[in-house]
Amino acid sequence: MTEPLLDSTRFRRVCGQFPTGVTAVTATTADGRVAALTVNSFTSVSLEPAKVLFCLADSSSSFPVLIEAERIAIHILSRDQEDVARRFATSGLSGAERLEGVGWTPGPDGVPLLPGTPAILAGRPGEIITSGDHAIILVAVDHVHLKPTGAPALSFYQGRFTTPVVAAPDTGA
Ligand SMILES: Cc1cc2nc3c(=O)[nH]c(=O)nc-3n(C[C@H](O)[C@H](O)[C@H](O)COP(=O)(O)O)c2cc1C
Repeated sequence: MTEPLLDSTRFRRVCGQFPTGVTAVTATTADGRVAALTVNSFTSVSLEPAKVLFCLADSSSSFPVLIEAERIAIHILSRDQEDVARRFATSGLSGAERLEGVGWTPGPDGVPLLPGTPAILAGRPGEIITSGDHAIILVAVDHVHLKPTGAPALSFYQGRFTTPVVAAPDTGA
């Protein structure tokens, strides 16, 4: 039933059958550098202590900032924030330039926080595990924000932005 995997395009297409949420990751370094990028490889890892992870391409322009980050914030985006996801995935723009186009406020240690985001997890980078052409970046979460807007989550499926078919209302209680 399976076939030999011969190229990365096929690999990407097969992985694209898995629907994911979409996050916007922001980060700051101690010397004031900033990163902002769209990430769908986010997942929670540990409850006690609270840890999450995402995978970062070593070719990403954000890589040098992320591996030296002091603070990282992960924004779980709603459908209303597709413009943010597109902007943060634009090649040729620096993190600061990506942030110029969206409203943000400084969080702990100045990490940019995007208002209107239903859920945010922020914390300090933990382990960084190199694997293939990506780094797995763990984040020890110490700040959260939860204020669902009623809009369904932004999703990514078969290479396109979409929304879940069933959007369960969550009042955030
Ligand atoms: C929906 C979506 C999900 C993405 N997920 C990731 C990811 O998990 N890890 C990653 O390194 N890049 C991911 N990217 C690409 C980054 O957003 C990246 O910043 C963008 O391709 C531009 O990168 P550059 O500045 O290195 O050219 C994703 C892009 C999109 C549109």
